[in-house]
Amino acid sequence: MCGIVAYLGRRQAWPILIKGLQRLEYRGYDSAGVALLENNFLKVYKKKGKVEELVQSASLSDREGTQGIGHTRWATHGAPDDNNAHPHISQDRRLALVHNGIIENYALLKKALEKEGHYFSGETDTEVLVHFIEEIQNRDDLSLEEAVRIALTRVTGAYAIVVMDRNEPGKLVAARKASPLVIGLGDGEYFLASDATPIIEYTNRVIYLNDEEIAVVTLADGPQVRTMNNEEQTPFIQVLDMEIEQLEKGGFDHFMLKEIYEQPGTIADCMRGRLNVEQGWVRLGGLDDYLNRVVQARRIIIAACGTSWHSALIGEYLIEDLARIPVEVEYASELRYRNPIISEEDVVIAISQSGETADTLAAIELAREKGALVYGIVNVVGSSIARLTHCGSYIHAGPEIGVASTKAFTGQVTLLALMALTLAHRRGTITESYFRRLVLELSEIPQKVAKVLESNAKIEYIAGEIKDRSNALYLGRGYNFPVALEGALKLKEISYIHAEGYPAAEMKHGPIALIDENMPVIVIATNKSAYDKIVSNIQEVKARKGMVVAVVVEGDEVISGMADYVIEIPNTEEPFTPLLSVIPLQLLSYHIALMRGCNVDQPRNLAKSVTVE
Ligand code: M6R
Repeated sequence: MCGIVAYLGRRQAWPILIKGLQRLEYRGYDSAGVALLENNFLKVYKKKGKVEELVQSASLSDREGTQGIGHTRWATHGAPDDNNAHPHISQDRRLALVHNGIIENYALLKKALEKEGHYFSGETDTEVLVHFIEEIQNRDDLSLEEAVRIALTRVTGAYAIVVMDRNEPGKLVAARKASPLVIGLGDGEYFLASDATPIIEYTNRVIYLNDEEIAVVTLADGPQVRTMNNEEQTPFIQVLDMEIEQLEKGGFDHFMLKEIYEQPGTIADCMRGRLNVEQGWVRLGGLDDYLNRVVQARRIIIAACGTSWHSALIGEYLIEDLARIPVEVEYASELRYRNPIISEEDVVIAISQSGETADTLAAIELAREKGALVYGIVNVVGSSIARLTHCGSYIHAGPEIGVASTKAFTGQVTLLALMALTLAHRRGTITESYFRRLVLELSEIPQKVAKVLESNAKIEYIAGEIKDRSNALYLGRGYNFPVALEGALKLKEISYIHAEGYPAAEMKHGPIALIDENMPVIVIATNKSAYDKIVSNIQEVKARKGMVVAVVVEGDEVISGMADYVIEIPNTEEPFTPLLSVIPLQLLSYHIALMRGCNVDQPRNLAKSVTVE
């Protein structure tokens, strides 16, 4: 968690750093801070809260300087206050450092440093790290990069850091291990950040630092990259295909709403070049070289967290239903700690929007150790998961900035549908005519999503009927069960209403006790199979005076006559229903959160990319 940004060049650093921090705020917004270096003088500005509060608090200060580092924090060690905000400064006020990650052995280091006379003003692991670098630097009169390198060989944990030294102006030292760091190459100027979003406005030429690499960036020589063992590296310069418009709200009030509305386009982008209706084929380039191994897999394990875990569940239904390969879905955080049975005959699919989720990364490492082939389904190009997996496919959803995942979910499900179709065709587990029908149907999903979005006004009205409730229940069967889970997660995370997702048939085994006139029940009732059962479930809710909001297929008269509110979606083949049925649930949670006055894009306590365990 946390976002870091740095600048070295000839322009004023402050506005570049502030804008960069605002782009990175999705990673944390407990506090923000900037350190500037000017004429061998370090100036530090820190404030609890969002970047805007830092801007206000520093508005009367001198903010001159052409070199600086900045940080936006998601608190792990120490309260989210001014004192614990980054940048942290060494005792002699010579070094300033920003950090994303956790230094696990900080307590031991802190004790040892205190014995040497170091005094700490806060509780963070980061303050310990900068004192540790200072101690090493001063003891042997080392350069900044050498002190950083030695210090990092003695710490355990995860980090992306940028450090600067008052006595060495014109230089930034950066390093990473298990937390991302990108270096942007401008014309005589350099930008460093947790991801490319603060950089893309100035340059699209970037270097993704690899794990356990240190970069020394100077105005004279640009970035020089070395390993922790001091071996020189030739960094790969990547040219990014990202537009600045993708990082802005484009006329929408919130990123989340913009991203919901982008879905007809992002789903189409995910399918582009991967499916041909006329010729009747589906192809995933990332799978080509490994197709035999996946087709012959003893089983597939899908590991993910949060919303990506929900799309993993839909992946299980798709792959088992169409390709008849056994699939298990695991929370990445559980997989890594429970001594699982994984062998060379298994294929592990890791799903992640950010490509940086620490638990998913750890699950991938475990799967690799056990000899499984690991396939990544990722959105962020060049991210750690994209690089750690043996093979994989991007979902091409573009930057997702709202903390609540929307377009990444539909991108992941689209990718899993393409994969299930590829495997099914190759294994001959579905007929050619059914395959062709599915391919045609999938290609038409973007227009159907656009149609669902036309119900926005009605969904907004329904949101008004739910906004003051304290609880909500989401029910779905089959392919719609994971959608129920996803709908409940969306509501919880941005409106703070307690919500549960359940398989509709499970309601009678417990949750039915909760139903009374205060309980809204959102039923995803689009299944052709088990339709009568869903109708019975709705009747059970109505009999107990629960309020029913039903998502149904256009033209459904039976449920429309029973439910309090109905939202229609176009008809589609059952395996693709989640791509349509999730859209009203995304809009519903958006409007409810807005009506409750919640911060839709940056909900409390959350961050977009969870890079800590
Ligand atoms: O970047 P990832 O897909 O690996 O992130 C996983 C979860 O942290 C993420 O889906 C989270 O649950 C979102 N806030 C859901 O909206």
